[in-house]
Amino acid sequence: KIIILDFGSQYTQLIARAVREANVYCDIVPFHSQIDFNEHIKGVILSGSPCSVNEQDAPMVDIQAILDKVPVLGVCYGAQLAAKVFGGRVEKSDKREYGRAQMLRQLEDKLLLGLSAKSQVWMSHSDTIKALPEGFEVLATTESIPVAAFKKSTAEPNSLYGLQFHPEVYHSTEGKKILYNFLVGICGCAQDWTPASFVEETVASLKEKIGDKHVIMALSGGVDSTVAATLISRAIGDRLHGIFVDNGVLRKDEFNQVLETYNEIGLNVKGIDAKNLFYKELAGVSDPEGKRKIIGKLFIDVFHEEAQKISEASFLGQGTIYPDVIESVSVHGPSVTIKSHHNVGGLPATMNLELVEPLRALFKDEVRRVGLELGIPSDMINRHPFPGPGLAIRILGEVTEEKAKLLQEADHIYIKALKERNLYNEVWQAGAILLPVKSVGVMGDERTYEFTLALRAVSSVDGMTADWSHLPYEFLADVSNAIINNVKGINRVVYDISSKPPATIEWE
Ligand code: XMP
Repeated sequence: KIIILDFGSQYTQLIARAVREANVYCDIVPFHSQIDFNEHIKGVILSGSPCSVNEQDAPMVDIQAILDKVPVLGVCYGAQLAAKVFGGRVEKSDKREYGRAQMLRQLEDKLLLGLSAKSQVWMSHSDTIKALPEGFEVLATTESIPVAAFKKSTAEPNSLYGLQFHPEVYHSTEGKKILYNFLVGICGCAQDWTPASFVEETVASLKEKIGDKHVIMALSGGVDSTVAATLISRAIGDRLHGIFVDNGVLRKDEFNQVLETYNEIGLNVKGIDAKNLFYKELAGVSDPEGKRKIIGKLFIDVFHEEAQKISEASFLGQGTIYPDVIESVSVHGPSVTIKSHHNVGGLPATMNLELVEPLRALFKDEVRRVGLELGIPSDMINRHPFPGPGLAIRILGEVTEEKAKLLQEADHIYIKALKERNLYNEVWQAGAILLPVKSVGVMGDERTYEFTLALRAVSSVDGMTADWSHLPYEFLADVSNAIINNVKGINRVVYDISSKPPATIEWE
């Protein structure tokens, strides 16, 4: 595997995903971690950073100590650090260089093997390498900087490379090739990290860990919990006890459809209809956080009650994925925090269950590929994200059963139309929002006074930032007509054209 030392760059996870895409396993660890070198570690990548190597407390690492063991590739800050510690000069560039640049190859070398002489790369730095240390060679330049890629020519026993640009971002058109050259050509990694090998190894280790014991797990109909449960089920069959709760704010028919799919996959899942309990507790509550708290707490109560009936359970399954567990490095302050996953976080400690999290090492796109490998229907794998509090945070103001039904109908028309027009997979997330606003309309000879519905569709990579999707006007017109004509209670449809930030994806 490859170790990525994180110096706090926003792109570190992209490096990891690019490495994994080359079917090479890698871990991200904070730059100050102690690496336990063994025969599995084939190379180290030093990430970028918001810091400058010339700052007083610039994050440091002993590169020579790593080089004694394995090859090293520095990216951006990592490259500057390598140049500096071996005696080179790094300074503020006269021009800050952000965005596209043309990399011009100067030297044939393993790292740039098979690349065009001129290749588009993505820069994002304000420092630049002015002079390389003795014994270093320039592999490539750009029009504005003298060192875009370099290597330490005297490096023994392992080679040291540096890239001033970001090979991991999409706009570095041959960046994947460079990473491939490093991983396979220079580090000698076997490309054996595949969905099939992951499934085989994970099922084997789950068998060993769980033995003849039982696992309980809350399922949400989402990709992560479904894939995690399927892996566990491959290992222990019906000793996995899944619980899927209808909280009354799922999508139309979702409860039955999801249970049916679980059944097809062969998962042992019990559906619990708790709709009325949720509606009862939600009555009169219009504050968004209040709604979230109620739904979260009731969910735990219901799950707990069911879980207690399965007294033989000693493990709790969870769909935690890699981005939830990466230790995030904060270089502008002493704190290093660990994000934790809170899906079933409130379960009473007295339940005394040990966690099983088979997806802890995977990025979302890898979870999807593993899901397909496991034979889970692609409809399930490619579902949009859906918030835990469901339609409750898309019914602005108080949630009632009637409003939930109204929104379910309208949302169903919208999502079905997106699928029929092949737009569903083009957008990252879509949904309808029921506004607490009534307005006047006219149908036939009759005046109406009904609710307004907002449609939302966004493009995004991870939900942190998002842009509204430019859906075709004709499509929006058809959906608007279909909703107003078929859903009694809604007489006006609007489309949300706000990006995140400053808006959010959900309205509450
Ligand atoms: P926002 O609205 O913050 O949403 O832009 C970003 C992503 O998070 C989802 N979301 C939630 N998911 N519980 C969840 O499980 C929540 O309370 C919640 N609020 C927002 C949202 O659907 C989007 O994908």
